[in-house]
Amino acid sequence: SLPFTVLGIESSCDDTGAAVVRSDGIILGEALASQAEIHEEWGGVVPGLAKTAHEENLDQVIELALSRANLTIDEVDAIGVTVGPGLEICLRVGCNRAKELAIQHKKPFVGIHHLEAHILMARLENPDLQFPFLSLLVSGGHCQILKCMGIGRYSVIGGTLDDSLGEAFDKTARLLGLPVGGGGGPAVEKLALEGNRTAVPLTVPLLQRKDCDFSYAGLKTNVRRAAEKLVMERGVELPSELPRGDKADIAASFQHIAIRHLEHRLKRAISNVEDEEIKTLALVGGVAANMELRSRLEELCENHGWSLAVPPPRLCTDQGAMSAWAAVERLKLGSSDEPDGQDVYARYP
Ligand code: KG4
Ligand code: ZN
Repeated sequence: SLPFTVLGIESSCDDTGAAVVRSDGIILGEALASQAEIHEEWGGVVPGLAKTAHEENLDQVIELALSRANLTIDEVDAIGVTVGPGLEICLRVGCNRAKELAIQHKKPFVGIHHLEAHILMARLENPDLQFPFLSLLVSGGHCQILKCMGIGRYSVIGGTLDDSLGEAFDKTARLLGLPVGGGGGPAVEKLALEGNRTAVPLTVPLLQRKDCDFSYAGLKTNVRRAAEKLVMERGVELPSELPRGDKADIAASFQHIAIRHLEHRLKRAISNVEDEEIKTLALVGGVAANMELRSRLEELCENHGWSLAVPPPRLCTDQGAMSAWAAVERLKLGSSDEPDGQDVYARYP
């Protein structure tokens, strides 16, 4: 059958994204307006400011994605948009615009689950990745291991008891006075390259628990205490004033133990599905852009005779191709939604 094209829209948090993706997996055009600078001075995403920025940028972002794809809105075959989970007032901006476009131009409409969209990016990049497979989804809002059985068919086999891994990266960045607009993870990763990962003693969370759940709140407290101890030793006022070498050691030690925790849980998850035909792990979500994480999980998979499927870093974090590709996957199964009745969901199990 002839390939079809989908315009995807994403506005669940602080990135306004749009993309046109073809059903054979080719990204024809993309545009992304980051709000990193807007939220930088507040140290995190401010929902009201995010909503306003989405409203200001969305039409331009859509037009840019279309023009880069060399298509008009009438030439695309369908529209997909994130409808949850996320910040409700932000989701609504993208969803309302997508509904209007779908109705006005008489296009099939697909409401997208943001977490499913993260997971399916692994299939965009690896067309051979067949269900069933395991996913480790690590983002700003989520930290889960899922068994993925098919489109719309997932079971959560481990989740976080408190913080997500992305949050832990962001809080470490804030503690150390690193840039946090658009997420603190990249700054922690960069600084960690200069540090010694065994310099700051930290303990791996939940070692005694025989399940696949995560906890990052204790590690966060450990990191803060370790930083405060160094603050005393160096005679400075705040962790952000520590010498660069100390900060790099903290960043490297945090990142090492944070990933160690993932490795422990994944080993358990892998042994839990021993009797099934599963042999692939998909690493998805914003934190999957982290190079240290990618190479450590590559090694873990290799040691278990598994393969790792991971999107390129820029497709791990939020952007419009997620919504477009997830819509492609649904449309291929003949599944779409009614734009008129579509609502948005801050929480979306
Ligand atoms: O998937 P995403 O873009 O948004 C959500 O759906 O939450 O994930 C954002 C999270 C932020 O916490 C950000 O700090 C983290 O992903 N992140 C990283 C890296 N790039 C983004 N964490 C660690 N290392 C990175 N390179
Ligand atoms: Zn996301």
